[in-house]
Amino acid sequence: MDLLLINGPNLNLVGKREPSIYGSQTLEDIQEELFNVAKEYEAKLKFFQSNSEGEIIDCIQKSVGSIDGILINAGAYTHTSIALRDALLGVAIPYVEVHLSNIYAREEFRHKSFLSDKAIGLVCGFGPMSYQIALQGIVSYLKQA
Ligand code: DQA
Repeated sequence: MDLLLINGPNLNLVGKREPSIYGSQTLEDIQEELFNVAKEYEAKLKFFQSNSEGEIIDCIQKSVGSIDGILINAGAYTHTSIALRDALLGVAIPYVEVHLSNIYAREEFRHKSFLSDKAIGLVCGFGPMSYQIALQGIVSYLKQA
């Protein structure tokens, strides 16, 4: 099983950025932990982070044929990007939406997601653990598919 974790804008700053909201673990720490969890599930996990909407879309398009499932924390593009939604629907790769924070407990503009209604599921609010729950979810979904 080949999986891809995509992190969008400003998630490269996690660990330093608003630690009271996003915690003190860096993205590298989170990814290292997740890589090991994926191994336990016998899944191969690749990582991609970009602050650029176009680069994320290119990455999604290039995943066709090599990636079975996507975990995506699109950061603020979650709330703004129809292009990202179209890319995910265009490649028809199942995906899980992930957020560190509980977007529904924050500002109203974060309550809208262009990704969630087409996702297998949405995990938010558990900090770095959100990624692990999402990983477990997509592995179980793909095993049944
Ligand atoms: C985020 C939530 C978004 O609203 C925000 O723009 C982010 C991070 C999260 O992981 O909690 O950049 O996706």
